[in-house]
Amino acid sequence: MIKKYVYGKPFETDAVIANVECAEEKPALGEVDTKDGFLFTYTLFPKDVVYGLGEASRGINKRGYCYVSSCADEPNHTEDKRALYAAHNFIVVAGEKNFGIFVDYPAKLTFDIGYTRMDTMTVSCEEANLYLYVIEGDTPYDIVKQFRKIIGKSYIPPKFAFGFGQSRWGYRTKDDFRKVAEEHRKYNIPLDMIYMDIDYMDSFKDFTLHKENFSDFSGFVQEMKDQHVRLVPIIDAGVKVEKDYDVYEEGVKNRYFCQCEDGSDFTAAVWPGYTHFPDVLNPEARKWFGDHYKFLIDQGIEGFWNDMNEPAIFYSREGMAQLKELMKKYLEMGEERMDFFELKDAMLKVADSPKDYASFYHQTEAGRIRHDKVHNLFGYNMTRAAGEAFERIEPDKRILMFSRSSYIGMHRYGGIWTGDNKSWWSHILLELKMMPSLNMCGFLYAGADVGGFGADTTRDLVLRWTALGVFTPLFRNHSAMGTRRQECYQFENPEDFAHVVQVRYRLIPYLYSEYMKAAISDDMYFKPLAFVYPEDSFAAQVEDQLMIGNEIMIAPVYTQNALGRYVYLPEEMKFVKFMPDGTICEEVLDAGHHYVEVALNEVPLFIRKGKTIPLAQAAQSVAALDTKNLEMLGYEGAEYVLYEDDGIHKDYENPANLRTLRN
Ligand code: NOJ
Repeated sequence: MIKKYVYGKPFETDAVIANVECAEEKPALGEVDTKDGFLFTYTLFPKDVVYGLGEASRGINKRGYCYVSSCADEPNHTEDKRALYAAHNFIVVAGEKNFGIFVDYPAKLTFDIGYTRMDTMTVSCEEANLYLYVIEGDTPYDIVKQFRKIIGKSYIPPKFAFGFGQSRWGYRTKDDFRKVAEEHRKYNIPLDMIYMDIDYMDSFKDFTLHKENFSDFSGFVQEMKDQHVRLVPIIDAGVKVEKDYDVYEEGVKNRYFCQCEDGSDFTAAVWPGYTHFPDVLNPEARKWFGDHYKFLIDQGIEGFWNDMNEPAIFYSREGMAQLKELMKKYLEMGEERMDFFELKDAMLKVADSPKDYASFYHQTEAGRIRHDKVHNLFGYNMTRAAGEAFERIEPDKRILMFSRSSYIGMHRYGGIWTGDNKSWWSHILLELKMMPSLNMCGFLYAGADVGGFGADTTRDLVLRWTALGVFTPLFRNHSAMGTRRQECYQFENPEDFAHVVQVRYRLIPYLYSEYMKAAISDDMYFKPLAFVYPEDSFAAQVEDQLMIGNEIMIAPVYTQNALGRYVYLPEEMKFVKFMPDGTICEEVLDAGHHYVEVALNEVPLFIRKGKTIPLAQAAQSVAALDTKNLEMLGYEGAEYVLYEDDGIHKDYENPANLRTLRN
């Protein structure tokens, strides 16, 4: 049962697309106070668990900390961080009472989940202009499914996007890309995508190509496709301020950029230097920006990633002017009297400053609105611009799209990657914990930078992380310029990496099938154990294992030098290990706690009692997979309903896409 409550004059975010009637009465669960902004209060029972918030720090159970929805360019994903790149305002309380709340509010919102007082949860924001949805159900899983029904279908990428992708900030020339493809093929490391970071552009200008490095780009795109490798370019939010650059000139002429109060185009520095932000909340400007993706689609490109769309601001003209003033003051003062910490602080504060976010405006269907009041909708609408344009440009074809910043609603237009993580062991676990929370909010096509984006990685970290990446729909190794190289072939014994990535390809028939079933029926691909075993009180405490689809459980190893790990089985399961020699070890384990050994070059998974999954032979690309001759793994006599389609078009509901396989 879903009830919608309206407070003040909410901004229409289009997060919810189903028609939910507004309830007249007050919510039966929790107290709402609108005297001073908006405040929702609920007293938590000692054993209540709180799920949700999509992309956020800490656990699957969000209890015990304070989280803020305020999309931020935050490259340090430490435990103390309250806000990351996204704003996913949906939580489910499970325990004494089971209910979910979605607060549809596009500005800063705070979820204090037992932080100020351990037994109290509050959700608050400055202005009481919002929709509150309260969803009651028998179990948290049931509540999630109801919520997913009202926010619309999750984005579905083309099937090649279930392959492995290699990325690094710093690939510049055709030869850089050719080498990545060659090395993968040389060592039999499967590969379907190579990502193009900002260096492919001319001076970091969106929808341009570096002239010397990418002459005959469409020829090069085809050359890569002939090897079953797709190039996936990045698109940034900021459009470079540069005379005669067509995107800039069109945006200025048509008033398509976000403007300051005085009507001038707001200027902020990002990678290209000074830029303007396309006003993606203005439907006309959104259409204009989206149509520009055609420049690359026309040259054979079939996928993109949208970056810096919180939107990130390194500094604005105003911020820089103030900083200059401060520096001038210090220079006059002399070193003796200079307050080094004040200067350092001032320098750090110029980036993503609240003052800047409150100094520009959007032209929306509801009139002119100041950016900070709708801040969390920017990345969503940039990706919507692309998604809506794809519908116009290639209505029958699926195009790969994922974004850094997001809000619920964007899950209909693209997936997400979880931004600039680090090459830390703790970040393998952080990724695992985020996945089910993201699925709750509709984001099914998701994944983190495997191997870690920032900091120097190690061989064992990349191997263990890749063994988790095997199961995430978005499976991409990406790293920052200046860090240790971490493509699979950079380390000794690349055959170990080849084996782990090949396991992904062996599992694609199953993983793709479960993804598609989840997307078609508004279900979750990744689930916390407690969603599948609600009667098992221990399952709710498991924070390092996940259920995938209806058949399997994963328990990756995420500590350095570990030879294996402890695992909890809520029921009897078949423990399966993909061995580096291509064989598969199978062992039935009883319900309960076990220690399982897993070497660095092995991939473990668990098949639920009485279930079976299909398995293909390893292949070097998705296109090369033979899905007609599948073997079955798991319990004998069990059946599996396989979903399969051409992976290109959108004929999802065709009954011919389903076939039953028997073990
Ligand atoms: C920030 C993104 O999060 C990262 O993935 C990318 O490599 C850099 N921007 C450079 O474009």
